[in-house]
Amino acid sequence: MESVDSTIQLIQIRERQGAETLTGTATCSTALAQGPWVFDAEAPSYGPGASMLDHLPSSAPQQKVLPEEYRKASPAELDLRIRAAKHALGERVVVLGHFYQRDEVIQYADFVGDSFQLAQAARTRSKAEAIVFCGVHFMAETADMLSRPDQAVILPNLAAGCSMADMADLDSVTECWEELEELLGTQPDAHGRVPVIPITYMNSSAALKGFCGEHGGVVCTSSNASTVLAWAFERGQRVLFFPDQHLGRNTGKAMGVPLTQMPMWNPRRAMGGTDVETLRNAKVILWHGFCSVHKRFSVAQIAEARAKYPDVRVIVHPECPMEVVDAADLAGSTDVINKAIAASPAGSTIAVGTEINLVRRLANQHPELNIFCLDPVICPCSTMYRIHPGYLAWVLEALERGEILNRITVPESVAIPARVALERMLSLKPAAK
Ligand code: 13P
Ligand code: SF4
Repeated sequence: MESVDSTIQLIQIRERQGAETLTGTATCSTALAQGPWVFDAEAPSYGPGASMLDHLPSSAPQQKVLPEEYRKASPAELDLRIRAAKHALGERVVVLGHFYQRDEVIQYADFVGDSFQLAQAARTRSKAEAIVFCGVHFMAETADMLSRPDQAVILPNLAAGCSMADMADLDSVTECWEELEELLGTQPDAHGRVPVIPITYMNSSAALKGFCGEHGGVVCTSSNASTVLAWAFERGQRVLFFPDQHLGRNTGKAMGVPLTQMPMWNPRRAMGGTDVETLRNAKVILWHGFCSVHKRFSVAQIAEARAKYPDVRVIVHPECPMEVVDAADLAGSTDVINKAIAASPAGSTIAVGTEINLVRRLANQHPELNIFCLDPVICPCSTMYRIHPGYLAWVLEALERGEILNRITVPESVAIPARVALERMLSLKPAAK
């Protein structure tokens, strides 16, 4: 099995031996070959990988160093222990995995999906007493809010956050909201549309989902952003979209909103770095957030792929910058990417602009296609990558003993309004094409 982990190990071995690295392959950080516990002990940082330079906020939960027996265990021993614990727990536990999770962990998942599918899965796995979420913190929070109160949602490594989600916090969004209210008022127009509807991308804290629930807003994911925006445009004159500027801009543009009507709100600048006239005229006010993984993709990489393979089909995630989405043949959520690849005729060449673990898995699953990542450098989502099999073994064996480790619990005062925004999203049906 050609996984991202095994490729990284191979590159490291060859480098140690002084041999040339694998053709066209390098890692964005040599530290990726180390166990995540090395970085957990050195908080606050996100560790190696695409978001290593992003700052981990001091309020983010910190993972304590994993017990030595798990850090020292070989992959074969961890495999035996995880399988034994899962077998003993049976239907009492369900393991959910996001598409970007490393294969060494995803092999134990009972359900693999995008963030929308995983939210729905958490809602419907009623037999399980515990949901072990092999994704990132905001996904586990959502699972906790949508599952039954007696079900425990467990994040195997608490340091598995999301640098994009951390780019918008409740204080700065509330400040922005109050300024917008002052400038644009609070009264609906003649069509009954309020001045601003807040929309938060799923990749955000439960507190921001709660903010949206309390202010007539809604949650969206990359698989339903245009349906959610259409819902909001019926009810509001404009939307405030956070934290991902790229998903907001790409979705707005695809719906015909001119760029001049999508100003950016930078929370570190006075009046967001924009002006009253621009805000009055705006349809989508974009928050200054982004994903460090998807920011790596460029138009130059697409040009290179097209020069090398004239028939190449380029598929990217909508968290990529607008120029990249414009230069691609298709942009869509991880589920859209999966489906487009599954529907491709044998012999097709496909360049994918999304997280490397998913691209590698798709390439392994489809030997009849030539699939490669647009970015030649191996650079996983460093936050998702912090869930190592050692952490999974640790939380599963604890569960077997009746001990719940790393439980993610959203306080009801936050969860009640957040559920309103989540349920609004879950009830929306995409418009017929
Ligand atoms: P999906 O909603 O496509 O699963 O993406 C989640 C994510 O974090 C992408 O970076
Ligand atoms: Fe967050 Fe980007 Fe990782 Fe997705 S890929 S979880 S947006 S850091």
